[in-house]
Amino acid sequence: MNHNLIKLLNKLKSKKKTNFQLSLQKLSKLKKTQIINFAYDLQTGSYIRDWEKKRQTYKMFNKEIVDVINNNFKRVSSLLDCGCGELTNTNLLKKGIKNIEVYGLDFSFNRILAGYKYFNLKNKHFNFVCAALKEIPFKKNSFEISVTMHAIEPNNGDEEEIIKELSRVSSRGLILIEPDFKLGGVKQKKRMKKYGYTQNLEKVLFKNNIKYKKIPMKNYLSSKNKSSIYIIHLNKKVNKKPIIVEPITKKPFSLINSNYLYSKTSNLIYPVIEGIPILKKEFAMLLPKNKIFKNVLLK
Ligand SMILES: C[S@@+](CC[C@H](N)C(=O)[O-])C[C@H]1O[C@@H](n2cnc3c(N)ncnc32)[C@H](O)[C@@H]1O
Repeated sequence: MNHNLIKLLNKLKSKKKTNFQLSLQKLSKLKKTQIINFAYDLQTGSYIRDWEKKRQTYKMFNKEIVDVINNNFKRVSSLLDCGCGELTNTNLLKKGIKNIEVYGLDFSFNRILAGYKYFNLKNKHFNFVCAALKEIPFKKNSFEISVTMHAIEPNNGDEEEIIKELSRVSSRGLILIEPDFKLGGVKQKKRMKKYGYTQNLEKVLFKNNIKYKKIPMKNYLSSKNKSSIYIIHLNKKVNKKPIIVEPITKKPFSLINSNYLYSKTSNLIYPVIEGIPILKKEFAMLLPKNKIFKNVLLK
């Protein structure tokens, strides 16, 4: 980050009624993923506030999703909510499905932290990690199912890579709840075009020969963002428990504690802040073997 960018981000945050994504597109030279990441960081708190106002709407939206999960995947014991945001829906999924271990991933640390503190959640097993959808820091088949709720939405052009990554870490299937251009009215169509939301999900699934069932949702959190549920079955061998890995090499970490995760294969170290591991590749620090100690951490 440079000084101008810090000034710009803080200026945007102080403005009322600013659309962060559109302003950053106009005013900065950032890459698309960075714009989405910063725009979501700046919005932190807005989903919890919305949830406080519309608890019943959220309950009905999540009940519909829970029913689809239970009807299509019997007795699911682990789930990764990809792009979990402020955990407003993650928390309801956890409450709605019996005996399930729920994990969440988002590239906005600010949002995970807000949700994690607000809902008073425990992060004993690193259930919530800060990471990117294109580099999920878990070993293959770590989760029975992976879920997205409007998280592929802003990643127009990266759908294929994201679906491959979700399929790698999941053994039984995927549940993608994403905006449906065809289902939306004039306002939704205009909005999806304006923000560049994906309209390619079905094309990408079709191109990659991925069979799916689509269910248009009856409940929605916003009438301007109606979604469909895309159900994909994978039928791979289920792993006993998720294994956290270094996001670039996908090798297991050699040392994990409450301050850092270190991989001796890649010589990379990642920080843990407030119990949340920051596993984005731009946060990796190099910790190579040195001449005094073969390795400072693994003496
Ligand atoms: C529309 S919000 C939905 C949040 C949450 N799923 C919900 O239903 O409340 C999309 C979320 O996905 C996250 N996200 C978007 N693109 C991402 C990416 N490429 N990697 C990781 N997280 C991403 C954003 O930070 C944001 O929290």
